[in-house]
Amino acid sequence: MTATTPVLSLPDAQRLCAADMAAVNTLIRQQLASDVVLINQIGEHIIGAGGKRLRPMLVLLAAKALGYQGHEHVNLAAIIEFIHTATLLHDDVVDESDLRRGRKTANALWGNAASVLVGDFLYSRSFQMMVSLQRMAVMQVLADTTNAIAEGEVLQLLHVNNPDVDEAAYQRVIERKTAILFAAATRLGALLAGADNATQEAMGHYGMHLGLAFQIADDVLDYTADAQALGKNLGDDLAEGKATLPVIHAIAHADAGSRARLRAIIEQGDVDALPELLLAIEQSGSIAYSLGRASDYARAAEQALSGLPETEALAALRGLARYAVKREH
Ligand code: IPE
Ligand code: IPE
Ligand code: MG
Ligand code: MG
Repeated sequence: MTATTPVLSLPDAQRLCAADMAAVNTLIRQQLASDVVLINQIGEHIIGAGGKRLRPMLVLLAAKALGYQGHEHVNLAAIIEFIHTATLLHDDVVDESDLRRGRKTANALWGNAASVLVGDFLYSRSFQMMVSLQRMAVMQVLADTTNAIAEGEVLQLLHVNNPDVDEAAYQRVIERKTAILFAAATRLGALLAGADNATQEAMGHYGMHLGLAFQIADDVLDYTADAQALGKNLGDDLAEGKATLPVIHAIAHADAGSRARLRAIIEQGDVDALPELLLAIEQSGSIAYSLGRASDYARAAEQALSGLPETEALAALRGLARYAVKREH
């Protein structure tokens, strides 16, 4: 990649798909409707809080980058955002989180049962929307994707309070719980555009690597962000006893004495030890290491796009890969 490779900033990328995204948001509102009041309330609470809408943007841009002229990318983008939102409702129950998108979480306001059930509503609504597209290949990718996300979350559950999780095990989790949905978004954008298999794979490869970069950055932000800007509480991963990449690296690079202490902090999910853990993470250069890994993946994502026709949408996809690592929320 040369210094002259065109790259759009996030605001420019957002402008490029603004009209399509407005259509996505309208469709999301329509599809959220139910005559069961609580579904509308919780749906409005989480969807109305916004969110970055990154995954639907990926669908729109991937389709656009490959010359798609139809309207189904709007449906697909809304479907992907519904799946994402369903996983957030479930994830906040599992993680016992109480802040999301700058608002109290649905589980904090309405309880776990309501959050899980409305998450199920969004999941199943996304499948109703998929069926209406009448494309078996899309169904196939999304059925496999949602199944893998569930596996990723369960796999992560098995690692809770385990200080022996290494980077390879961590990668297996984040690939499934997060990156696979990014990969589906971009792959399906290519599929809609009628791209050949190699191009679909390249787009999928881009999304997968972008998703890995994105989740590592998320795990760094859980230790370093400003909670207000993030719209989520810091230290959630520690509270849950989740050994994410900064912690994995810190444990591996600590001296014997502090290693035992760091292991105990993870085993106990000891939130009171957050300042101590943070200090250890900083001292072993684990934030820089983690962001370096995220950058590696972001670069691999960009490289997967090489050879595709040079368009503004392609430049926007490159920009999103860079944004995934340097974002503040
Ligand atoms: C949050 O995703 C879940 C992760 C995979 C880290 P986002 O950070 O994209 O959430 P919203 O949609 O912008 O709130
Ligand atoms: C999010 O993982 C993955 C899914 C929602 C499937 P995290 O638990 O790290 O995401 P946040 O930090 O709560 O957004
Ligand atoms: Mg979480
Ligand atoms: Mg997180």
